[in-house]
Amino acid sequence: MDKTESQDSIIVFDTTLRDGEQSPGAAMNVDEKLEIARALEEMGVDVIEAGFPISSPGDFQAVQRLSREIRGCTICGLTRANEKDIDVAAEALQDAARPRIHTGLGVSDVHIEHKLRTTREGALEKGVAAVKHAKKYVEDIEYYTEDAGRADPDYLYRVLEAVIDAGATVVNIPDTTGYSTPTEFGALIAGIKNNVPNIDKAIISVHCHNDLGMATANTLAGVRNGARQVEVTVNGIGERAGNTAMEEVVMAIKTRRDVFGLNTNINTRHFYSISRLVSELTGIPVQPNKAIIGANAFAHSSGIHQDGFLKERTTYEIIDPRDVGAPDSAIILSARSGRHGLRHRLAELGYTLDGDTFEKVYERFLEVADRKKTVDTRDLEAIVSDEAGMYFEETYHLEQVQVSCGNLSIPTATVRIAGPEGEVFCDADHGTGPVDAIYRAINRVIGEPNELIEFSVQAVTEGIDAVGRVTIRIRADEESKDTRWVFSGHGADTDIVVASAKAYMFALNRLIAARREAANR
Ligand code: KIV
Ligand code: ZN
Repeated sequence: MDKTESQDSIIVFDTTLRDGEQSPGAAMNVDEKLEIARALEEMGVDVIEAGFPISSPGDFQAVQRLSREIRGCTICGLTRANEKDIDVAAEALQDAARPRIHTGLGVSDVHIEHKLRTTREGALEKGVAAVKHAKKYVEDIEYYTEDAGRADPDYLYRVLEAVIDAGATVVNIPDTTGYSTPTEFGALIAGIKNNVPNIDKAIISVHCHNDLGMATANTLAGVRNGARQVEVTVNGIGERAGNTAMEEVVMAIKTRRDVFGLNTNINTRHFYSISRLVSELTGIPVQPNKAIIGANAFAHSSGIHQDGFLKERTTYEIIDPRDVGAPDSAIILSARSGRHGLRHRLAELGYTLDGDTFEKVYERFLEVADRKKTVDTRDLEAIVSDEAGMYFEETYHLEQVQVSCGNLSIPTATVRIAGPEGEVFCDADHGTGPVDAIYRAINRVIGEPNELIEFSVQAVTEGIDAVGRVTIRIRADEESKDTRWVFSGHGADTDIVVASAKAYMFALNRLIAARREAANR
């Protein structure tokens, strides 16, 4: 059977937790990865690349935990083409319902000569040996031909034929550096179909990077020419300029069925919520004009467009926002909505909160409703992510923050923080501005060395009373290692100074939890 042609369904392989996590500062802990994996499973993703098991104990644990708890998807672990990597991946995957080992190595001359320091023949033999070794553990082997976009096609064909003979069930054709154009990449996949004699025994997968902004176009060109698996990430996060965005490829296939004639198993109504979840947990904001899930993706602001849209939606809208789960921000709540109204709206937005978390969200909702009078969907999302999005133990809790500043005064902050045993600390400091003063005061209490490397504020809604959302990133030395940790933190409040304090506490608690975890290992 020709695996690539017989199939009119595209396999969606999500690598948010592996290539996506390689985005600078996007590191997630195991609980956070599990939360994303559950959302991926629920939306119908076929394969989850859960990590690179040999690279760190955290990655090993993530692959192992997902293997045990995510039963509806194939769970995949990445390796280099050597026995040790493969042994460790096999161990991490041993409880998976459907395990896959993803192994491989470079095929371009620049990778073979400079990175692998071998010859074409040497690389080919190593790749074949890796597949044979992986085959001792699992049936499903995916082989990646790194930097295929810049390789000599004849050599690539030979590698593919050999690894398929050795047992590879999926062959991954990455445009690792995002160098290809859609015409070239489509031709490369067509060339593979026409020149690799045993290609009918494997599925062709495409894995594109976005360095020239062509990842989605290249992936779709691959699909048009016979690829039947797409490797994608939520929001397109990933190394450097990122990977192909899942929401873009899937919506292109769905919206332009006339062109592609193909389906995926994805329930597209989950796009909006998973996008927010990934953004929250990685600390990488979604640009407002991002296709499909950006805040402006369905906003019509010019008069001419609004006029046409109001007469007939399809004049300026090719996708119904409900199809990607974009919330209707016109639905607003007020303090009078009460617990019942809030619970109902949260359920509509896909949030199911346990009793304690719901009570915290309800308290915050009342505070915001009190200040703003009305609370729309975006406010609610900010509140929920603040109160529910913590997948680590909160060692220190900010109880109170107070700042004085102005053009004729020295910015000074006082903080009250509850410690791990319930003890309460109060301290104060001054700084170059109110946020600096708060961070210094917090540092006096917590004393966890770090460096603030990023700080951004965004208004969640329009208007002077908008909820402000602060996202920060801190960097700290990892004990007894040369590497450095980067953690993001976020906080939301109608007072951006308070939001800044919350964001810093979030990142610090995350750092403390990671230190504790590392010490326990
Ligand atoms: O971009 C790439 O080539 C990769 C491989 C490891 C699959 O991420
Ligand atoms: Zn990649």
